[in-house]
Amino acid sequence: MLKLVTFLLTFIPLCFCSRLSLYGKTLDGKDSVGLGEYEYNDETNQITIINDKTDLYKDDVPYCIGMRSNDGKYEHSCFTLIELQKPLSYELVLDIDSVTNEVQKFSLVLNGTLEGIHPIIHEPTDAPMSPAIKLKKTTKTYADKRREVKSGSEQFSKIDKDENDEEVDDRNYLQKNWKQLLIGLVIYNLVTGFLKPSDSKDKK
Ligand SMILES: *[C@@H]1O[C@H](CO)[C@@H](O)[C@H](O)[C@H]1NC(C)=O
Repeated sequence: MLKLVTFLLTFIPLCFCSRLSLYGKTLDGKDSVGLGEYEYNDETNQITIINDKTDLYKDDVPYCIGMRSNDGKYEHSCFTLIELQKPLSYELVLDIDSVTNEVQKFSLVLNGTLEGIHPIIHEPTDAPMSPAIKLKKTTKTYADKRREVKSGSEQFSKIDKDENDEEVDDRNYLQKNWKQLLIGLVIYNLVTGFLKPSDSKDKK
């Protein structure tokens, strides 16, 4: 029995793979060419070339380069717009998320030393990734804010709307207050300016 289980386990496909197809489309959408097929493994974050035979493409028209996967996980249409060189000598860069290993961004980078299209994995430890992380944080806080509002709105949607309005009013109030403070300061200066000469006159 144990033997049977281990035997079966070895045959269960444990590959969390996405079959990726790189393609190019002309701007009028009439011409579409396949540029390669790859298998990306979410578990090991490795990419393997399945097919790098490219269809005939023109080297004098710009192509919208896109990537899609058979499982629907990735649909990055037109991540770059380039005139493809002949022969192809590009790096296909996959920027991946450090936690989920999901591909965040695809890019095609010209590299004259290469033949064909070479896929490489970019770990997010690189410096250019830091702005992307920053952006993520801001969206998180916004989502949190919305979640807070939502949790309050479950029962009293009208009150929640009022709360929202209050939030907007709060900002306006601050602005108004700031202006009033400035006006107040100007008036104060004017008054003290008037008073000072009269004081000195009195002293004389
Ligand atoms: C071009 O590819 C080679 C081989 O992979 C690599 O060593 C080199 O750093 C690449 N050049 C650029 C500019 O990315």
